[in-house]
Amino acid sequence: MASSLRSQGWFDSREYYSFARRSTLRAQGLTRAITEGKPVIGICNTASDLNPCNRHLTQVAEAVKRGVWAAGGVPCEFPVISLGEMFLKPTAMLYRNLMSMDVEEMIRANPIDAVVLLGGCDKTIPALLMGAASADVPAIVVPGGPMLSGTFRGQTLGSGTDGRKLFDLYRAGQLNDGDMEELECSIARSQGHCMVMGTASSMALIAEALGMTLPDAAAWPAVDARRFTIAEQSGTRAVQMARQGPKPSEVLTIHAFHNAITALMAAGASTNAVVHLLAIAGRVGVDLTLDHFEAISNLSPLLLDLKPHGQYLMEDFAYAGGAATLLQHLLPLLQPDALTVSGHSLGVQLAGHRTHPQPVIRDLNHPLDTNGGIKVLRGNLAPHGALIKTSAASPSLLTTRGRAIVFESKDEMLAKVNDESFDVDASSVLVLRNAGPHGAPGFPEWGHMPLPKSLMAKGVADVVRISDARMSGTSFGTVVLHISPEAWIGGPLAAVETGDEIELHVPERRLTLAVPAGTIEQRLAKRPAPQPHYTRGYGKLFLDHVEQAHLGCDFDFLKRN
Ligand code: FES
Repeated sequence: MASSLRSQGWFDSREYYSFARRSTLRAQGLTRAITEGKPVIGICNTASDLNPCNRHLTQVAEAVKRGVWAAGGVPCEFPVISLGEMFLKPTAMLYRNLMSMDVEEMIRANPIDAVVLLGGCDKTIPALLMGAASADVPAIVVPGGPMLSGTFRGQTLGSGTDGRKLFDLYRAGQLNDGDMEELECSIARSQGHCMVMGTASSMALIAEALGMTLPDAAAWPAVDARRFTIAEQSGTRAVQMARQGPKPSEVLTIHAFHNAITALMAAGASTNAVVHLLAIAGRVGVDLTLDHFEAISNLSPLLLDLKPHGQYLMEDFAYAGGAATLLQHLLPLLQPDALTVSGHSLGVQLAGHRTHPQPVIRDLNHPLDTNGGIKVLRGNLAPHGALIKTSAASPSLLTTRGRAIVFESKDEMLAKVNDESFDVDASSVLVLRNAGPHGAPGFPEWGHMPLPKSLMAKGVADVVRISDARMSGTSFGTVVLHISPEAWIGGPLAAVETGDEIELHVPERRLTLAVPAGTIEQRLAKRPAPQPHYTRGYGKLFLDHVEQAHLGCDFDFLKRN
């Protein structure tokens, strides 16, 4: 038997339990020739009927198994918690850290020599990466792939992005119930995750840029044959990694994060990816901060012409060359020596990639914008930072001073924006608080507040919205998010009053409450401390240990020092 396999600690001794464990493996009818001394490859599967974006991963796992068997390994598929963005209340984000703990402990506790991680919907790839990074057993990600492009009455539609736009037409009475029923079947028409550059697509791209997937893994649609080819190849590669590595801690270096953030900015990808990258970095002891994002954003041009900021969809991105083409265009800005799970550096890997003329992925000489899609703001309203996705914002609103209208809760906000007599104008700044990790709780995607009906009636298409919430990566508009510290724990957002003036100055990266010095502190001192949302169970664990947005919202005890 080879001496380097972790699984030997379970199967290779003369003790009773080694015999008993081997016998249970043999219960499948496998011969000793098949099982003895072979790498055991875990297939960590997030397939679930409660997570429609990941349901097809059962088929993807079969392709991984083919690759494992062909390379001389023994595949062992196992389930972990799966987080479906559309179903979970109050938000899937409440459970990301719980899922990451499940992943970490199931890898660590089992006789696994390497693991293939199958994810798709928004939180699943982040949680898989966080858990695998903590377990630090060789790991390779196979993203589930996006849905095919939506189609509706001759229009190509992107889930989330166009869904929101069309729902606003429904709110305005321009579409009826029959139209919406037809739309339901047209906008999500295959297996896979949302097919704009939302959070799921962003995290697949980031997994590839981090070096945690084989090349060309991020973009193929979930139903494309090449999705299954990548899965089979990943199973084969995992068998090699079982003996040779690399481990996640060897791949997830500061250079890998540099490459991932560069790709994130060039793609105009989801603001949620910032939180997830901070959390993944914390699991491997890489000291990543919002300053890294800001610095790289200033150097990385926007190259990807995808919704929600552009015109195309993930299917077009795949046919245009996918993440490998984007990364190759970005090569002068990347750290090419970063190791990937292929065993090669990113630079070596990209050297063999062929590109072809196409309109979706621009090159460095023809960017959509000269710098990246996400900016970090600071100021007396966000001492630890806030984010704005400038690529999806209205340029005319990036320098604004307006009257604050404060909502204490999501319910209050929804009631007001749907009230046709709501007193708001185009220069108002809508403020939602108590929507952060502690306040909501769980840090939901409430930050993209719907446009007030009274503004839509006047033809206003965007208004500045600020909050301590997140927003879906599929959303758009001039939306400031992730204000840290959040209002619930006494951040300055709690001191804003309706009628105050708020200044947003993105060119100077400022978010300011225009009140006399000392006002914020005086108002906060009078504010009663709110009661926690949970006093028992996982909710209490979450509230006791979750960190703020600028640190990645991981649990403090899960970070590696
Ligand atoms: Fe799963 Fe959008 S709902 S990726």
